[in-house]
Amino acid sequence: MRLEDRVAIVTGGAAGIGRAICELFAEEGAKVVIGDIDVEGGEETARLIRSAVGDAVFVRTDVSSEDQAASLIEAAAASYGGVNVLVNDAAAFVFGKVEDVTDEQWRRALGVNVLGAAYTVKHALRHMRAAGGGAVVNIASVSSFVAAPAFVPYNTSKGALMQLTRCLALDLAPDNIRVNCVCPGAILTQATELHRQFTGEDREAFLSDAANSNFMKRHGKPREIAYGALFLASDESSFMTGQPLIIDGGATAQ
Ligand SMILES: NC(=O)c1ccc[n+]([C@@H]2O[C@H](COP(=O)([O-])OP(=O)(O)OC[C@H]3O[C@@H](n4cnc5c(N)ncnc54)[C@H](O)[C@@H]3O)[C@@H](O)[C@H]2O)c1
Repeated sequence: MRLEDRVAIVTGGAAGIGRAICELFAEEGAKVVIGDIDVEGGEETARLIRSAVGDAVFVRTDVSSEDQAASLIEAAAASYGGVNVLVNDAAAFVFGKVEDVTDEQWRRALGVNVLGAAYTVKHALRHMRAAGGGAVVNIASVSSFVAAPAFVPYNTSKGALMQLTRCLALDLAPDNIRVNCVCPGAILTQATELHRQFTGEDREAFLSDAANSNFMKRHGKPREIAYGALFLASDESSFMTGQPLIIDGGATAQ
């Protein structure tokens, strides 16, 4: 029960890695507040947690809107009396080469993946300070460090999210608020299929190329990322801030 009596907000909790984080956090005792644009998926995550005897609510939230990000935080505080943990998992998967990316696509990638995280932290601060501290976990990516073909907006946003993590960690350390990020490699989720469709590659070849790009020759599972997020959200990582936790089957170690 590493998150017993903690209130944890998870953006992007309607699917994939975010849902796995919500479920694991609830198993560890957290009261979970899910923010996502996907109402059906978000409600389903909350239902899954409650049917397993956890505590969760869903709040429809587009994190790229500061007003909606603020409402998510206030809804969490109103439901459960405070905010202790914030996971920024929501992401826009915008791929492409620079010459092909539209202004709208750039704004969506940066608006969700970078500004969304900044807005939620901004509005969670007052509650974390009132609680004597807190933990922010940003879900960045190996794309924060390495380039990949035709991946410009997404990779740029994830690089910025890593640097946002460092900057926030420095500024918020006096408030006992730690800010770290998990950097997943290839994890099998609905986003994997979005990327495959963008490349136009055959499904089997695409999946096997991604799996073969790491030492373990397979995709990771959402739960394997959730365990990293749990470590960073819990007191077990009490002397860690401003850092990435890379979980990629060794992909960036070669
Ligand atoms: N799957 C991978 O291989 C992989 C690799 C590295 C990093 N990541 C990161 O992990 C996180 C989760 O990705 P996933 O693979 O589980 O994808 P996913 O598509 O399953 O989950 C992303 C969630 O974000 C939500 N979302 C999108 N825009 C939003 C917005 N404006 N406001 C609120 N919610 C919004 C979606 O509705 C969805 O529920 C992302 O930050 C992603 O960049 C994934």
